[in-house]
Amino acid sequence: AIAILDFGSQYAQLIARRVRELHVYCELFPWDAPQAQMDAIQPKGYILSGGPNSVYDAGAPAIPNFILESGLPVLGICYGMQTLTHALGGRVAASQEREYGPAEIETVLPNPLLPSGRQRVWMSHGDRIESAPAGFQILAASPNSPAAAMGDVAARRYGVQFHPEVHHTPGGLEVLRNFVVGICGAQPDWTPESIITQAVERVRTQAGGQRVLTAVSGGVDSSVATALAHRAVGEQLTAVFVDNGLLRMGEREQVRAAFEGTLGPRLVVVDAADTFLRALRGVTEPEAKRRIIGETFIRVFEHEARKLGEVPFLVQGTIYPDVVESSAPDRNKAARIKTHHNVGGLPEGLTFRLIEPLRYLFKDEVRAVGQALGLPAGLIWRQPFPGPGLAVRCLGEVTAERLEILRQADAVFTDELGRAGMLNQKEREAGGIAQAFAVLLPVYSVGVMGDQRTYHETAALRAVTTEDFMTADWARLPYELLARVSSRIVNEVKGVNRVVYDVTSKPPATIEWE
Ligand code: XMP
Repeated sequence: AIAILDFGSQYAQLIARRVRELHVYCELFPWDAPQAQMDAIQPKGYILSGGPNSVYDAGAPAIPNFILESGLPVLGICYGMQTLTHALGGRVAASQEREYGPAEIETVLPNPLLPSGRQRVWMSHGDRIESAPAGFQILAASPNSPAAAMGDVAARRYGVQFHPEVHHTPGGLEVLRNFVVGICGAQPDWTPESIITQAVERVRTQAGGQRVLTAVSGGVDSSVATALAHRAVGEQLTAVFVDNGLLRMGEREQVRAAFEGTLGPRLVVVDAADTFLRALRGVTEPEAKRRIIGETFIRVFEHEARKLGEVPFLVQGTIYPDVVESSAPDRNKAARIKTHHNVGGLPEGLTFRLIEPLRYLFKDEVRAVGQALGLPAGLIWRQPFPGPGLAVRCLGEVTAERLEILRQADAVFTDELGRAGMLNQKEREAGGIAQAFAVLLPVYSVGVMGDQRTYHETAALRAVTTEDFMTADWARLPYELLARVSSRIVNEVKGVNRVVYDVTSKPPATIEWE
């Protein structure tokens, strides 16, 4: 395994994802995490991330001593290189100017880390190395960074000023492979099969033959977590699916079919639409909707769980980014934009012990595991769907009638995108549409149908491309497709007489409208 120390870089998670892409297990730690925590994964080497500080800042984070004393390989990236330099007696030059953007570096000394010749890299730094520590040699240079990379080959310590983890450094993965596999000698044995074996083993041990409950949403995380738990504990597992009345067309049937087909466990479907609609009556404020739905879910779930008797364990589909975000250095003191939640995220006040089979997996690893477990592709590549469901796409008051209008408009849009082949796995992986849906606006406008005046609500269409859902762009859908969708919606969906397309990126908008 590789231990990655997070010095507050926005790219820290990306480093971990890249190392996992090399099929090497790694974990991210806050830079000041206790040594025992890092020792627990038996690291074969350390990667130090970048970060916003200067090594001369008061209280600047520094490379822990035990790492230097371990004798294990170290790769410092950007700030990681600077703190390594500072700790080993080299000199870091403080600079007010940032070098930001693409650069070309040239390897000036053959070495185990970098390929020979020139390569394009991504730079983002202020301070730079003025003199490398004793024992280090300059390995690569760029016009702006005379010390673009340095290394002490005998001690297996390296530093790079550029960011090998980002896509803008095309040869970056090779640099990381050279370090992780070549220099550290870590085994590339982190494959879907080994992940499954380990997860199943862990869940089985944890449950110790007792009963386990799982809440499923139809989403990829809860489905894969459930399938893993079922492999581990078999008949001891019961799955609960709460139909909150805020689902898309045909969704309940799809979940049922997936369970009868491949997922395995006994499924209890709870029809709670009325309960949710009653709780939402008269509510229009987005955060109020989210809060009410979260609370209602807990109540309904608790009630169902009690009916099932003594069940000590609950499966949660928590994935690694959630875990990392909650322990990362204070990079995320951002304002709360909206309260996200999902079915797995709500056991507060419940007395379950948690089983989290996906706790150390990134989303693409969850998908790969799902695939290896034989889950249907439609499920694995399903679009994200917010926990509060259609309620946050039904602007204004959520009523059964308006939900039905929204459901129909959304189904038309999805159907046409599907026919155009724009929602499949290949398109998604190639940067196509990541998410597409309809929104119902409480905006009435005048129309004419036949010889009749109409006065109905508006459907907005939203389709976005994105890598990580943190930023997104609106999809440049073909006019012809938009024309078909629009004409079908106003003709087939009673209650909508106007269709608009959302051409806003995130930021400044968000993907969902509430
Ligand atoms: P926003 O609207 O914040 O959405 O740009 C980013 C992504 O998150 C999804 N989303 C949610 N997912 N629970 C979830 O599990 C939620 O409460 C929630 N709200 C938004 C949204 O669909 C998009 O993919």
